[in-house]
Amino acid sequence: MSEPTIDPKLMETIVSLCKRRGFIFPSSDIYGGLASAWDYGPLGSELKNRIQKFWWREMTQLHDNIVGIDAAIMMHPKVWEASGHIENFDDLMAEDTVTNERFRFDHLTPEQQSTMTSPAGNPLSAPRRFNLMFKTHVGAVEDSASVVFLRPETAQGIYVNFKNVVQTSRVKVPFGIAQVGKAFRNEIVTKNFIFRTVEFEQMEMQYFVHPSEDEKWFDYWMAQRMEYYAKLGIRPDCLRFHEHGPDELAHYAKKAFDIEYLFPFGWNELEGIHNRTDFDLSRHAEFSGKDLTYLDDVKGERFLPYIVETSAGLTRTVLMVLADAYEEEEAGEGDVRTVLRFHPDLAPITVGVFPLVKKDGIAEVARKIERELREDFSSFYDQGGAIGRRYRRQDEIGTPYCVTVDYQTKDDNTVTLRFRDSMEQIRIPVSQIGERIRQGTREYTRVGT
Ligand code: GAP
Repeated sequence: MSEPTIDPKLMETIVSLCKRRGFIFPSSDIYGGLASAWDYGPLGSELKNRIQKFWWREMTQLHDNIVGIDAAIMMHPKVWEASGHIENFDDLMAEDTVTNERFRFDHLTPEQQSTMTSPAGNPLSAPRRFNLMFKTHVGAVEDSASVVFLRPETAQGIYVNFKNVVQTSRVKVPFGIAQVGKAFRNEIVTKNFIFRTVEFEQMEMQYFVHPSEDEKWFDYWMAQRMEYYAKLGIRPDCLRFHEHGPDELAHYAKKAFDIEYLFPFGWNELEGIHNRTDFDLSRHAEFSGKDLTYLDDVKGERFLPYIVETSAGLTRTVLMVLADAYEEEEAGEGDVRTVLRFHPDLAPITVGVFPLVKKDGIAEVARKIERELREDFSSFYDQGGAIGRRYRRQDEIGTPYCVTVDYQTKDDNTVTLRFRDSMEQIRIPVSQIGERIRQGTREYTRVGT
């Protein structure tokens, strides 16, 4: 199968659409922005929340043995000693001695590494180790006793709560604990919009298994996670697995596969699936002095579970969903339609409602229909401009359904329902709008290129 082509200009187009339509703004925009930090606007925060909700439902609600938690961002500093992050969570950094631009050493080409030359052709400084954790202090005194770190992964909040969850929930190995939350990394290079930022969100699930079954569950979760992206309507030829070689493996991982997506700037990691063995639990047991073994009371066996982790970036998924959904389509006579083909469950607005004209009581009828739809869907009322333009404005932000109210509505209580992807329009009774939207969402399949 040939690889889909990528459009390197797409990133620029997406960044500009995101700002123009209120998905994502530069952080502290009125002060000129802050490199690598972004704010999610009215549509962007909806999109992000919906992705999170979709993941949470998939990973907790649809399994009877996965529970959720929400741990604090700041944790006891010993957590990061035990986890190995203080010792190992660093990147090699080299600096262009002329421009002072900094590079991750592992992102340079083998030739640049061996000749110690920057991409601009200047000499590079000797590479130095750079720990990615943000350090701060709790309380008024900045001494070593008050040091805390902003968590660089949400996973550790799960491991330190393993015992609490086992003791308070009716979970039995194999079982999972899921969490969504902020993580922070002082990345040497941040670029490509929200792809790599210093503050981001992760959706992580840690699956605790018997050590003899780690391979089986690893394969299971690889398959499950690919299936999840299919459910999200992501183009399958833009997804692939990449196995970590020995020099790529994180300090905690025995085996790791990334799910990569073909971003506009090339194939890159979207999610990591890791076999973390009993590394984390054994280290926390050692550093805390607590017994973290699990008792299988049927077999009478006590053991330290292995962990299979699925770790997806929420903010990175937002970028992937935007890139995957974006399409420009010939609309005849030199006209181009911009459309975001979001899965209907992810679209920030599910249904737009328009009166064809404002006069003769049509607007009032349309407003009433929109208010009723609000109870079940995220809806939006728009009476400004030509109807074609109103459809296009909704296409551009990915609204999958639009309802138009006209004179006939007053006579027979029917409306026009228009579908974003096919642009097909059907006439249906007002009472059927909700069901047609639910049906369209249930049966949704991705169309377009
Ligand atoms: N707990 C394992 C872990 O954190 P990781 O591969 O370092 O593994 C998992 O990160 C996911 O988190 C990545 O696949 C990516 O989606 C997201 N992620 C990591 N660093 C990020 C950053 N600086 N900005 C945005 N997302 C990031």
